[in-house]
Amino acid sequence: MTDIKKGLAGVTVDETAVSKVNPETNSLLYRGYPVHELAATQPFEAVAFLLWNGELPDAEQLAALRRTEREHRALPDDVRAAIDLLPTSAHPMDEVRTAVSVIGARETAGISNVMDAVGTPEENLQRSIRLWAQLPAVVAYGQRRRRGQELIAPRDDLDYAANFLWMTFGEEICTPPQAAEHVEATEAASVPAPSTSSGSSASGGVPDPVVVDAFTRSMTLYAEHSFNASTFTARVIASTLSDLFSAVVGAIGALKGPLHGGANEAVLHVFDEIGTAGNVVPWLDAALADKRKIMGFGHRVYKRGDSRVPTMKAALDTLVAHYDRPDVAELYDALESEFVARKGIYPNLDYPSGPAYALMGFDTLTFTPLFVASRVTGWTAHIREQQAANALIRPLSEYVGPDERHIDGYVADA
Ligand code: ACO
Repeated sequence: MTDIKKGLAGVTVDETAVSKVNPETNSLLYRGYPVHELAATQPFEAVAFLLWNGELPDAEQLAALRRTEREHRALPDDVRAAIDLLPTSAHPMDEVRTAVSVIGARETAGISNVMDAVGTPEENLQRSIRLWAQLPAVVAYGQRRRRGQELIAPRDDLDYAANFLWMTFGEEICTPPQAAEHVEATEAASVPAPSTSSGSSASGGVPDPVVVDAFTRSMTLYAEHSFNASTFTARVIASTLSDLFSAVVGAIGALKGPLHGGANEAVLHVFDEIGTAGNVVPWLDAALADKRKIMGFGHRVYKRGDSRVPTMKAALDTLVAHYDRPDVAELYDALESEFVARKGIYPNLDYPSGPAYALMGFDTLTFTPLFVASRVTGWTAHIREQQAANALIRPLSEYVGPDERHIDGYVADA
């Protein structure tokens, strides 16, 4: 009997220097740094640089990355045209997947020999940066298109996270200048906040710093998580010496599923179904009787809680206070305590990030594309790592179909 590890559970398939998940200590390290330290202190651009290069950037390197990101953050015309061909009811993950295909086709145009598709390490670093820079416009445009709103152009005076929010919400996300200054002053006194904005602009207000801070933290927490299903998918594709964009397109497909990234969207459907904290017990009775999986709970690797949850829960708490929505926290706490008490299964990152994104104003359908915009950094770091020490990923299977048999003249339409 072959010892089959269903879902590759517990199987170590390769080495990685990108991140380390340790379920024993409930910790997650990006290139050695605890993720909660990165989330509390670093702008997302620095986290992306770290994942790609192995070290945090110095001031010059960070400035250079920010310059490149700004150069590529506008929605390209060909990508917009491709998205506009899709029905507005298309799932935004399909939009993002299509957008990456279009970007990839343009980036790799003219490569006529398939042996050259893989590219050099430096080419793939630059492709990773440009792709990462273009995704916020894709995600933001998708939400605005579904709402019947116009595209918003990026702003050069804002860093990555603030500009992402600006392109999605425009003035809606901006606090009046005085309020913004007040929030920045009070936040600075209590919590070390990531650097998120390069100041105000004549072209608009400043995206609400409380939201920018929570959003930045979520981006960092979602950026990387070792050999999860989508990253492994990307590595499988990269292992065939296909191009980086094909690997990312495959990863997006894997992330869409509700057992993986789609869970942050699914958590909000659960919250909508339950309604208020008082309905948790009867709702859970019925859901468990129906043998439903409760979205946002459980993890293949962590069995005693997801290392990213405390940081994201703290960001959610800040948003709950900021928007004066204690009802969200009550429902969150009630479902968590009831489900953990009954099943001993703990929340994963999608549980706090779903309601946090809803409070920020994102449509539920936009949640998983936000995950893409962040995780593209981890995926591309892994793709380059796979390319650097490649072995075709091709496992074996145990055949359980019919024994050998023969045609013996059989014809279907005889
Ligand atoms: N709700 C109800 N029961 C659960 C849940 C859940 N969320 N998660 C696990 N279980 C139960 C299973 O029913 C199973 O019970 P059984 O042994 O009585 O059959 C047992 O726990 C083991 O579950 P598996 O699904 O086999 O464990 P696996 O390691 O494959 O699952 C997974 C991990 C897929 C994440 C699972 O916990 C799940 O489906 N969770 C909900 C979806 C979700 O939140 N996904 C996000 C993952 S994290 C991320 O992508 C950021």
